[in-house]
Amino acid sequence: MKLTIFAATGGIGRHLLDQAIAAGDDVTAVVRDPGRLPGRVRAVTADLAAPDPAVLEAAVAGADAVLSGLGPRSKADAGITSRGTRAIVAAMQAAGPRRLVIVSAAPVGTVPSPGRPNPPRHDAGDGFWMRHVFSHVAMALYREHYADLALTEEIVRDSGLDWTIVRPPKLTGKPLTGTYRTAYGQNLRGGWSVPRADVARYMLRVIGEPDAVKQVAGIAS
Ligand SMILES: NC(=O)c1ccc[n+]([C@@H]2O[C@H](COP(=O)([O-])OP(=O)(O)OC[C@H]3O[C@@H](n4cnc5c(N)ncnc54)[C@H](OP(=O)(O)O)[C@@H]3O)[C@@H](O)[C@H]2O)c1
Repeated sequence: MKLTIFAATGGIGRHLLDQAIAAGDDVTAVVRDPGRLPGRVRAVTADLAAPDPAVLEAAVAGADAVLSGLGPRSKADAGITSRGTRAIVAAMQAAGPRRLVIVSAAPVGTVPSPGRPNPPRHDAGDGFWMRHVFSHVAMALYREHYADLALTEEIVRDSGLDWTIVRPPKLTGKPLTGTYRTAYGQNLRGGWSVPRADVARYMLRVIGEPDAVKQVAGIAS
């Protein structure tokens, strides 16, 4: 398969890259610093805070699927997920690939966005502690980032592309298990965390699953 992976030097992104290479896929990695990539990868250099549309279009042209692990490294990157994803979507619309898989976050289903001002108050998959305690703590800590992810999801939902949005809870650096749980349209009951490696495995798996197209998928250990 021919894949274009954005943010391939990030936590999930690096797992996407390593797993895709191990599977024999033909990978183009779009990153800020190609010096941090393994030697055998086709690299495209792009800062998604100020993207060059022609560079991104060339990077996605001919891809069977585009995957993104984009997210803010620090406060200085605030807003990067929506801005960068908008650029990725525009490049795909211009260059032709249709399959897009991105990372969001478990609490985002309850976060308003301009086109979805009244989301449900609770995610159907969340239990008591998640609904009434943890989600309030997470919202207080990450309100700005979740708002950007809600906008990102809206950009993807409105793209006309064949998208899948993956919403993990807390990410860990634990090794791949392959035993994660998933559900369309909701989070997983008692799903407090998941390894980045498992999120990457699932993102690569859903590329070939027609049922996953135009779905938001919860994932958790
Ligand atoms: N942390 C959690 O527990 C958690 C839970 C649920 C959901 N999430 C979501 O999952 C996302 C991915 O998580 P992660 O741990 O894999 O993130 P990460 O390791 O911080 O990776 C973020 C990636 O985005 C890239 N990036 C940032 N700004 C960029 C820019 N201007 N241009 C190009 N690339 C840029 C980074 O590039 P560089 O490598 O060059 O820095 C990096 O590759 C998070 O951002 C968050 O939205 C996180």
